[in-house]
Amino acid sequence: MTYSDALTRALGVIRRTIPRMGTDRPAIGRDDLTYERCHDSHWVDGFWSGQLWLAYAETQDAVFLKAARAQRPYFIERLDRPQSHDHDLGFLYSLSLVADYKLTGDEDACRGALRAAESLAARYNDRGRFIRAWNSWSDNDHNEGRIIIDCMENLGLLFWAAQQTGRSCYRDIALAHAQTTIETIVRADGSTYHSFVFDPDTGARLRGETVQGYAGESCWSRGQSWGIHGFALAYRYTGEGRFRETAVRLAEYALARLPDDGVPYWDYRLPDDAPHYRDSSAGAIMAAGLFLLADVVDDAAQADRYRAAARAMLDGLLAGYTTFDHPHAEGLLVQGASHVAEGYADNMLPYGDYFLIEALLRAQGRTAFFW
Ligand code: GLY
Repeated sequence: MTYSDALTRALGVIRRTIPRMGTDRPAIGRDDLTYERCHDSHWVDGFWSGQLWLAYAETQDAVFLKAARAQRPYFIERLDRPQSHDHDLGFLYSLSLVADYKLTGDEDACRGALRAAESLAARYNDRGRFIRAWNSWSDNDHNEGRIIIDCMENLGLLFWAAQQTGRSCYRDIALAHAQTTIETIVRADGSTYHSFVFDPDTGARLRGETVQGYAGESCWSRGQSWGIHGFALAYRYTGEGRFRETAVRLAEYALARLPDDGVPYWDYRLPDDAPHYRDSSAGAIMAAGLFLLADVVDDAAQADRYRAAARAMLDGLLAGYTTFDHPHAEGLLVQGASHVAEGYADNMLPYGDYFLIEALLRAQGRTAFFW
């Protein structure tokens, strides 16, 4: 299957799913390849919107525009409920209101996205120089002082807001958080902690941990993929070599540990007796990240190697993990591992679907996205 054919088939699934999804948003796949819908205030709320906007950008078909715009009231209304926000405002608003503004110039969308950036910036802890990831779930969750690698994908909203408004504070916070992530979450061998905990009052650096990976000292593969894509984005926004070098280190670590079909297991440090689920979403995110990284490295041979690796990962996903032959599937990729310790493995995931589209577009030379 060529990438162009795969994109056509994927857009066909999205088109077919639009009337069924209505103003809902997919959360996690069921065994029959339909999607459970998001309950209110889910971190994954933006990925369906992101797919619709990419489909519209690619085709200019009003069906996708109308469906994307049908999502907009939810994102606008949610801005008035700051208690519903954690740090995932970038995932939510880059793929909804920023996308809308970039593609249509709509000023309401721009204003909403800037409000989201303001909320994200408000989570910055100046003592520890980090953006707090999650709100508190219990008395001893240490979330007040917690960052996670995923946040690298939220920084694009801040970099964009700085460009849009001329206010450097957004960029300063993004730069500080990215540097803190390098110093705490990225290990010397290029692997990553999922999470790092600080004393929220003093900013003291306490320990690396995991929430969704196999163990504290393991390397959760989706987190590694967020880091590859996110540090490459930080480089693209800033031109600062430390971010590109970090993306390269993370990519090299993961590339040396991929299975033969190129689709990662859910963690790169699984003991033999651990469950060996694949995470197709980690594969799709990393493939998109490698295409992006290939566009920003100076060395042509290195760029070729990353593009070849991204294509191999994409080929593996297309050969063994798509829903394309299923007539009623509401998503695109099977075998995503959302949170193995909580029993969520082997599902369609809306972020796997979104990044499959992004990777297919990048594979065909597209460079305009919403991050
Ligand atoms: N950002 C949460 C996850 O990747 O599951």
